[in-house]
Amino acid sequence: MADIKPDDYEWIRQFLYTQCANDLGQGKEYLISSRLGAVAREAGLADISALVTSLKARPLGGPLHQKVMEAMTTNETSFFRDGHPFAALEKQIIPRFLSSNSGRPLRIWCAASSTGQEPYTIAMVLRTNFPDVANRARILCTDVNATVLKRTTEGVYSQLEVNRGLPAQMLVRYFERAGANWRAKAELRSMMDPRVMNLAVPWIGIQPQDIVFLRNVLIYFDAKTKREIVTRIRNTLAPGGVLFIGGSESILGMDEGLSREQFGMSTVYRRAA
Ligand SMILES: C[S@@+](CC[C@H](N)C(=O)[O-])C[C@H]1O[C@@H](n2cnc3c(N)ncnc32)[C@H](O)[C@@H]1O
Repeated sequence: MADIKPDDYEWIRQFLYTQCANDLGQGKEYLISSRLGAVAREAGLADISALVTSLKARPLGGPLHQKVMEAMTTNETSFFRDGHPFAALEKQIIPRFLSSNSGRPLRIWCAASSTGQEPYTIAMVLRTNFPDVANRARILCTDVNATVLKRTTEGVYSQLEVNRGLPAQMLVRYFERAGANWRAKAELRSMMDPRVMNLAVPWIGIQPQDIVFLRNVLIYFDAKTKREIVTRIRNTLAPGGVLFIGGSESILGMDEGLSREQFGMSTVYRRAA
């Protein structure tokens, strides 16, 4: 593996921070090598140093810049990831929503939805347990990485991907064969509203949300960015709306407008009603 020059490392670190606020920190040369080596080769460039030189010579925002930013995001996800948030959704959160909101549409936002397994999991929970709610629910799926987001629109997953967390009865009920892959049925796909969006930039045009999933993305931001995003999310939550974050993440003491509630193994943050 070729060494990354300190100046190139710093340029990539800064670039990533300005594009999507991901804080690479120090000592992640292996990550740059493993993720950008292929981008350099595909662009016909000898190595990462040549890639940085080429990026510097082009205007920001072009396709090569986009590829580099996307390659540096971590898109790890799976169906029913961590399990308990979806149990809380089914057993507590949706029943509580139904008890105070008869007939109005449910709005859910997956704020870093990657390749879509998380919003499709939510859609399956709704279709299976609350079919009437599912008929009037929209799941806003956003990610800064347009390439992974496209997969949510397509709803096509490999055998390997469905093997990761999707129960067999859900696979049979909600997916159909697409060659060697599986495609989510229209009843799930029609619930998705995918949009490219950078959480680090103030957003407009997002309606008040009843439930926000912001899981396994806060870890990539520094404390200041994290706090700003959490405050903006709180302001986007409808009164009484709830926020899920990842199991290894904490926003404790970050926003006084959110109160912590425990549902079994799952912690959620609620905006005062
Ligand atoms: C590890 S995945 C989490 C996927 C899913 N929420 C889960 O928990 O399984 C993190 C996602 O956050 C996205 N991301 C990183 N920075 C972002 C930003 N500034 N705005 C929006 N999405 C971002 C990445 O592209 C990636 O798809």
